[in-house]
Amino acid sequence: MRDMADFQIPLLALVITMTSTLALAGQSPSSQPTLRQIAGPRLLIGGAIMAADLEDPKVAQLIATELSTVTGGNEFKPDFLQREKGTFTFERADKIIAFAQQHDIKVVGHTLCWHQQTPAWMFQKPDKSPLSREEALDNLKTHIETVMKHFKGKVIGWDVVNEGIADDPKQYIRDTPARRAIGDDIIIQAFKLAHAADPDVELYYNDYNIDAPYKRDRALRLVRDLKAAGVRLDAVGIQGHWLLNSPPASEVDDAITAFAKEGVKVMITEMDVDVLPRKAAGADISATEKAGFDPYKNGIPAGVLQAQGKRYGELFKVFMKHRSDITRITLWGIDDGRSWLNNFPVRGRTNYPMLWDRELHPKPAYEAVRKELLSASTEG
Ligand code: XIL
Repeated sequence: MRDMADFQIPLLALVITMTSTLALAGQSPSSQPTLRQIAGPRLLIGGAIMAADLEDPKVAQLIATELSTVTGGNEFKPDFLQREKGTFTFERADKIIAFAQQHDIKVVGHTLCWHQQTPAWMFQKPDKSPLSREEALDNLKTHIETVMKHFKGKVIGWDVVNEGIADDPKQYIRDTPARRAIGDDIIIQAFKLAHAADPDVELYYNDYNIDAPYKRDRALRLVRDLKAAGVRLDAVGIQGHWLLNSPPASEVDDAITAFAKEGVKVMITEMDVDVLPRKAAGADISATEKAGFDPYKNGIPAGVLQAQGKRYGELFKVFMKHRSDITRITLWGIDDGRSWLNNFPVRGRTNYPMLWDRELHPKPAYEAVRKELLSASTEG
């Protein structure tokens, strides 16, 4: 269990800072402690951001005050960093780094090896047949080395492999161009290359639905396989693209217990709570749906926002119960208007998955999260 003092020191420091600020200003409190202030340094609270978001001063201000970590929503992915072989484009990712450094925010690198948003040349010949193992490993090595060296000391950790486990329960490693070229040890190879490129940075395995029983056992097997191969693995990232009514919070609870038992930290890395109907749970970005209801185009009933708040609350209660094993909770976005769920799995809907609304006002979900963080910080 986490020591009581770990949570109480930041809270105490916060109360002192706020009291002295208020005394100077001689005014009644107009603002309350932010999420990052309540959570303190031991539990990072984050959001996925785009470099373009930072051009809006109100969004930048919200990120800087509320969050202690950010993940580039797209900017650190292979097709952003090396769309053409040998040409690295770091400008947009570097904007995120510069902003984070200015505001004492930690950056997570997402991601080095993924079957989406990755240029075909990395693992395939022009006719789409796999490259040789040697060529593919060489491309992966150059990418990982160049990228990790560029960001050395600037990111705290990397999602080395994203979504490497198959959705089909009968399969283990996902069938991807990288696996077809390199083989079943693709995930182990990626972790070895990453550790060699930067031995100081944290390395994570990140995936969706690994909280769900159908995929969890294979994720646990992967943790054991990575350990048996002697590679560094600091944490497992549960993406957390969840719906209003599924999965049950108890499944998330059980999954965190199971991963922690394997001796790794757990991070919630891409959380959102979708309020719109859709066919598939999870976050397979190729699982697009042609049409779907868009019931809240002109506004969302207060009752649905309350239900969403309750849902965020029950999930954060689970995270707080496991706070000695959970080191980071990152939301996949900032406000409803910018969320990727306005376009996934159906394009062009009006979704409301985040803690802040389209005007950047905190929603009931924000209050629910705040309440759970606060009660954990005073409970010890
Ligand atoms: C999403 C981005 O948010 C979108 O802007 C992009 O069009 C598609 O990818 N799981 C992941 C993230 O690991 O990288 C995905 O991000 C969302 C699902």
